[in-house]
Amino acid sequence: MKTIIEPFRIKMVEPLPLPSEEQRLNEIKKAHYNLFKLPSEVVTFDFLTDSGTGSMSANQWAQMMNGDESYAGSPSYYRFEKAVQDITGFEFVVPTHQGRAAEALLMKVLLKPNKRVIGNTHFDTTRANIEVNQGVAIDLPIREASESSKYYPFKGNMDLARLEEELKNNHSEISFVIMTVTNNSVGGQPVSMKNIREASGLAHKMGKLFFIDCARFAENAYFIKQRESGYEEASIISIVKEMFSYADGALMSAKKDAFGNIGGFLALKDGAIANDVRTWMVVTEGFPTYGGLAGRDLEALAVGLREILEEDYLKYRIKSTAYLGEGLKSAGFCLVEPFGGHAVYIDALKTLSHLVWSDYPGQSLSVEFYKKIGLRSVEVGSVMLGRRNVNTGIEEPALNELVRLAIPRRVYTQSHIDYIIESAFEMKKNFTSYPGYEFIYQAPVLRHFTAQFKMKS
Ligand code: F0G
Repeated sequence: MKTIIEPFRIKMVEPLPLPSEEQRLNEIKKAHYNLFKLPSEVVTFDFLTDSGTGSMSANQWAQMMNGDESYAGSPSYYRFEKAVQDITGFEFVVPTHQGRAAEALLMKVLLKPNKRVIGNTHFDTTRANIEVNQGVAIDLPIREASESSKYYPFKGNMDLARLEEELKNNHSEISFVIMTVTNNSVGGQPVSMKNIREASGLAHKMGKLFFIDCARFAENAYFIKQRESGYEEASIISIVKEMFSYADGALMSAKKDAFGNIGGFLALKDGAIANDVRTWMVVTEGFPTYGGLAGRDLEALAVGLREILEEDYLKYRIKSTAYLGEGLKSAGFCLVEPFGGHAVYIDALKTLSHLVWSDYPGQSLSVEFYKKIGLRSVEVGSVMLGRRNVNTGIEEPALNELVRLAIPRRVYTQSHIDYIIESAFEMKKNFTSYPGYEFIYQAPVLRHFTAQFKMKS
């Protein structure tokens, strides 16, 4: 069958906001053309992120009623701990309120000033946590990651030759290695088992710890099953267990592949490191058996972590993301390929070929998506990643001008996606009329969240 059906049926619904065109035009103007500033009540399709935005299952909601809110030693913690142990194989489990809190704790405990943390590509918050602890974040993506339309099955991989070089040439400068699966910063692209195994082998040979940022571990495992020879017949759980078997620990934002609206964890092999983390976490996260979460949150995550391993769900998830990608491509948009697990990325500079980078084509395209159908995406280009040189005042571009459409889990149906694709065909007719934008306000750091724009005339 060609049609992908959602492997769930819907028991509870919420209304989809349907602002009129006039309202949308008014709202985007009021937001100074910055989609972060829109109230979500005027957004029809919220594709800003897949983080914390998924639908929970009946089982998750049911188990939440068993949440025990004891400050210490709650049974909800022990159920959560057991789920994380069963899946990752790590003995020591530390809950945190979200992924970046796990990163902050790991850096606090393991990272010394001026030391390097090597990654395939660190997510922004990981990089920020390395830098605020005075460390140096080094990204070693493979070359194929920057070739947007070239097919490569595991574009999320780490460049092993460069890793080996780093480990040899800067051995005493390196603290540890983090592999992010899937690799969000290069487009939600998977990492192969071979790459995880070999990167871990190199790190261990040189006496360095190897961690996995496993925010989207199940999506990564499904890609391995689909694309890596030797895994065609393997179960998802066996692939997942093998992935973690190469690591000394894992950090997770449980707002992604644990179907959580909030939560995260740090899971570790080494009890001494876990002990240090538990000492520090009391200052910022709370007692080690709740880590900034309610007992009911821990219950929901314990169920979600097991649910995400269902192969029917993962097949639907990866295929439905590709379905959106194929649809936009057939409408005439240029996309990063192959499509990622949680998102599709539009190359806005190629799509809006009448604009140049300094017109912020990603901003232009994302504003037009909102105007057209109330869809909120996020610019991942020179607005987010470019810089204004503080000395010269001159704007410097990012490497690419992309727009990310991240798909919340189990939220939108195929008819929603069909509607988006249909509107994309309409949009294509007017591409050349889409204006460039310029900043009228920008903050000195993380400017994309609060920037204000005006259209270029
Ligand atoms: N690691 C990865 C790979 C992520 O994608 C994120 C968050 C984090 C860590 C941080 O986790 O948000 O729970 O503190 N990514 C979101 C996104 C925000 O939209 O891609 P957090």
